[in-house]
Amino acid sequence: MAMNSASHDVAERVEKRWAMVVVAIILVLIAMTIYTGLHWAMMPPSRVETIRPETLHVSGEFVESNLGSATEPDGSVTVRIVAQQYSFTPQCLLVPANTPITFRATSSDVVHGFLVTNTNINSMLEPGYVATFKTTFDKPGEHLMPCHEYCGVGHQGMWAHVRVVDKASFAQMAGASSGRVSCVK
Ligand code: CUA
Repeated sequence: MAMNSASHDVAERVEKRWAMVVVAIILVLIAMTIYTGLHWAMMPPSRVETIRPETLHVSGEFVESNLGSATEPDGSVTVRIVAQQYSFTPQCLLVPANTPITFRATSSDVVHGFLVTNTNINSMLEPGYVATFKTTFDKPGEHLMPCHEYCGVGHQGMWAHVRVVDKASFAQMAGASSGRVSCVK
């Protein structure tokens, strides 16, 4: 009898301890979700933006003349990109270092991948949806941007690159060009 009640106590203590561990894990996951949502590291459902893929090229934000890097009044840069079988437009993105960058991208046909090597950018581009990411490149350099979602027979040849230049060179190039800038020759 005494033995039984002792083991019952032990079981209860162990169960309580594990229940607390489980609650702590859940709280950490909820905190992570809130933190990443607030810092744009992920997009909660409330932030989903839709767009009509069949009229992308005709009107609106993703017409060809509006693609590439645009300097905003606050000094940040917005880069707009369209993915299609089997390329990105523009094929070479030009961005300044040490500047808040917002990427806005979508697909005009099927699901493509959007990954910039050595950054936190790694997502899918789905027709009908706009993907938005914020990042800052801390130094000039080149990053590859391969499509990493299988999108058809030409998938392995679908990639672009991101050229990060220092702020002054970017300002010079952006100033010299009347519209959006990119490093496509
Ligand atoms: Cu586009 Cu794979």
